[in-house]
Amino acid sequence: MGPAKIFGAGISVALLATASPIAQSLPDQGTIGGILNPIGNVISNLTAPINNEVLPGVTFLLSNFTATTYTGTATSCDMNAADEYSTTSPEAVGIDSHKLKAALSYAAVDGSFSTKVFRNGCEVGQGFRDALMDRVPSLNAGQTKAIVALIAGIVADRGWVDLDAPIDDYVEPGLGDAAHRSRTLRQFMQLTSGAQVNHVSGLNLFADISRTREYFSSTLQYPAGTYYQFDEITPSVVVYCLERAIQKAMGTNIDFQTFAQLALFDPLGIPTSAYFWQKDRSGVTTGYSGLWLRPLEFGRIGLMLLNNGTFGGCRILSEDFVQSMRQGTTANCGFGLYVSLNSCQPGQTQVSTDYPSRSTLPGEEWIQSAPNDMYYSLGLGTNTFVIPSLNMVVTRDGYQELDIVPGAVSGSLNGAFPGNAGGPGEHEFFRLLMASITNMPTSVRATIQNSGPYDRPANENVTVAPFILPLSAPLGTYTAIGPHGPVGCNALYCPSSSNDGLTWLGQVPRVIPGLVGLESRPSGCEAQFTGNVDLPDITIFGEPVFGDTETS
Ligand SMILES: *[C@@H]1O[C@H](CO)[C@@H](O)[C@H](O)[C@H]1NC(C)=O
Ligand SMILES: *[C@@H]1O[C@H](CO)[C@@H](O)[C@H](O)[C@H]1NC(C)=O
Ligand SMILES: *[C@@H]1O[C@H](CO)[C@@H](O)[C@H](O)[C@H]1NC(C)=O
Ligand SMILES: *[C@@H]1O[C@H](CO)[C@@H](O)[C@H](O)[C@H]1NC(C)=O
Repeated sequence: MGPAKIFGAGISVALLATASPIAQSLPDQGTIGGILNPIGNVISNLTAPINNEVLPGVTFLLSNFTATTYTGTATSCDMNAADEYSTTSPEAVGIDSHKLKAALSYAAVDGSFSTKVFRNGCEVGQGFRDALMDRVPSLNAGQTKAIVALIAGIVADRGWVDLDAPIDDYVEPGLGDAAHRSRTLRQFMQLTSGAQVNHVSGLNLFADISRTREYFSSTLQYPAGTYYQFDEITPSVVVYCLERAIQKAMGTNIDFQTFAQLALFDPLGIPTSAYFWQKDRSGVTTGYSGLWLRPLEFGRIGLMLLNNGTFGGCRILSEDFVQSMRQGTTANCGFGLYVSLNSCQPGQTQVSTDYPSRSTLPGEEWIQSAPNDMYYSLGLGTNTFVIPSLNMVVTRDGYQELDIVPGAVSGSLNGAFPGNAGGPGEHEFFRLLMASITNMPTSVRATIQNSGPYDRPANENVTVAPFILPLSAPLGTYTAIGPHGPVGCNALYCPSSSNDGLTWLGQVPRVIPGLVGLESRPSGCEAQFTGNVDLPDITIFGEPVFGDTETS
């Protein structure tokens, strides 16, 4: 027996805990690990099961230190956008609740703020920190890109953009050369733009002058569509192009985020108080990261994808677009439109991100303990996993990768630098989760590459080039000086576009109602567009938000 301390939101609680490895814990015991703090549990591996019989009635704020599973007999659930999730017992949808708790407990020990499991549309369980954390907007990091892809699909479904047309059609006149303007939105979303990347520039979270204009000063290193490269710049070009296309089609200079609320978040029942979204100084919403959406909402996104684009009876995206998100490329079988795909086959080209190493894999599942039709958004520990063959969605939030042995402790470079798909912790979580399913079809089980312990070789290589080349890139990003600064900008702003400064910070207070639970959810279809290309019959669209509409 040894003490373990937990700190959360300024509260500390000391608990007695036995220090035995999680593998030995009983399935329905909760486990805690190390030190919980608002930015993640990054420094410790004090895994220990908590036995409720030793500590009867102990609660931590609203939650016991055990995963929550629900009761009920519904075998499937429907919900309207304005509803909270419908719940049922794991058993009612073919899941063993004790084993599910073991998986959720595993997920929760590592600093996961939130972990939720859904099957047949019903929420069946969540982690023990969810009650405390799932209404706190958190940086969605790479998951932001997946949201951008959804909005791209909505805009493409309406015929307002062609994802395969050169972005020349959408970029303002005079910005960038013909080669930069010849790439397509689909290539950007597949991370195959071919533009050279520098992650020291790219990870500049709060000082962006203009991401879009940085792309137009980048070196085009590879032919478009041929080389997969993790890229923090071009997702903002996608947002920029979408915003201009939306404004042109609607005849108003509506902001990208206003459109996102009306066309995506309203029909998903996600209120504005659930998120804020950063912009760069030129006023373009950041595409690669910068969405601070609370974890409670991730399941709605996953359920909509699982349903091929509908949610609460509203069609949000076409089925075709949802399926096209799941198509890999010849440059990387494991990446679709801003989502990771578990579907690589031997012999295909599979490439990891270059955080911190770029590696080529032999065509295998990223997460080998999960079915191969799984696809998911990949953020800095932020994920929405969709498994169509099991009618399942799993959501996870936390700034550390899903692993009870943080990279910072294990000494694993790839673990310490999150952002790669398919680490040991993700493997173990899905191994436990899949073991909880009592009615898994044989055909689905056959697609699980490894139901045993994680067995991939450690990769401690570092791929240096994308962090140092071109040498002038960071100077350009931060000061606009040199060949790789944003085109036409100075250190403060881009004179030819609006200067937003850090006005997005003004959005932060919007989320307070969400934090305290006072917000009401939008009711969905009523606020949504009807038809494919018709302009919406909603008065807010009738009036320009400010100034004249740009057309080009
Ligand atoms: C945590 O650390 C202990 C002692 O270093 C180690 O034996 C154990 O395997 C670690 N936990 C896990 C789950 O790896
Ligand atoms: C804590 O767990 C006990 C026993 O499992 C349960 O009866 C109680 O409702 C739980 N409390 C909360 C706040 O979830
Ligand atoms: C989604 O679409 C795919 C491919 O068209 C189809 O096989 C699947 O059954 C659909 N799923 C749902 C829930 O409609
Ligand atoms: C690490 O680098 C070495 C030397 O370039 C290479 O042989 C090896 O395959 C790399 N490992 C991985 C996992 O990519």
